Amino acid sequence: MEKDFGRIVLSGFRELISLAGRLGEKIKDKYFWTYTEMEQAVGYLLFFRDALKKQEKSNTSYQQIFGESGDFFEIKHFKRGFNAKSITFKTIVRQEVKRWVLKIGHRISPVIDFGDPSNPDYYKKYKQDLEVLRKKIMQHKELVHLLPEPQEVIWAVLTEEGNKFGTTLLLQPFLHVMKPNKIQKKLTDEQRIQLIAELQAFKKLCEGLVKDHKLHPDLLGEGNLEIVEKNGEYHLMLLDMGLVNLLAPLPITHAVMHFASLQTIYNVEKLIKKIL
Ligand SMILES: Nc1ncnc2c1ncn2[C@@H]1O[C@H](COP(=O)(O)OP(=O)(O)O)[C@@H](O)[C@H]1O
Ligand SMILES: [Mg+2]
Repeated sequence: MEKDFGRIVLSGFRELISLAGRLGEKIKDKYFWTYTEMEQAVGYLLFFRDALKKQEKSNTSYQQIFGESGDFFEIKHFKRGFNAKSITFKTIVRQEVKRWVLKIGHRISPVIDFGDPSNPDYYKKYKQDLEVLRKKIMQHKELVHLLPEPQEVIWAVLTEEGNKFGTTLLLQPFLHVMKPNKIQKKLTDEQRIQLIAELQAFKKLCEGLVKDHKLHPDLLGEGNLEIVEKNGEYHLMLLDMGLVNLLAPLPITHAVMHFASLQTIYNVEKLIKKIL
């Protein structure tokens, strides 16, 4: 017991030191775009497209995303998070214009042992976690829309002037996240009931992930669990697929994540139930 307590304190201390060491880079990652980063992002997009085309088994995804021509246009910078920065772009698939988000992993995550996106192990783990999530949602009929699909993860390495930059790339369709005031105004009672059922199923999914895999969706910060408008319907969607490994020696991160999850789920519930 005392030994355990000692280990937790030590782990917590190590975690704080790592956060202090990473803070400068993380603030830059979260808030500032540089010109070269945008150029590099286009490079990653080209890499992503060509890698997807080469993977025979995902050839259907390639066609679903890049259409017949493989062309893309209207590349814009989008959001920055603590784990990734993202751009949006458009393609034409069977005469229809589609918009996509490409998430480009940052070099490091905010704390040690959380997993650094520029490490191939992070990519492997991410791919595995996505499969775990895809399988788990099949057990909940309410959650067929929870994950943005098609969704593809690719490991990419760009070489520039002899320097190699490897990172994890994730592609998702661009989704229309509903603003809180719109949710308050637009949803019918029927839609609210269906969204509550989706939220209850999501809570059960989280319990199952903890029990069976010692994993929990990362719900820290804004924008990870959202209500999204899709073809005139509204659904609960998990946009940030990061799963937190509860076996990692990160007592402080886990505590913060735990309270953040409760808060995020409560906020979504409040919105759906119209509690002001
Ligand atoms: N597919 C998407 N469509 C529209 N907005 C998105 C999409 N994916 C993420 N976002 C928004 O981008 C922001 C950051 O994305 P996220 O995946 O959470 O990155 P990070 O892992 O760095 O936190 C969030 O505010 C989220 O709502
Ligand atoms: Mg996020």
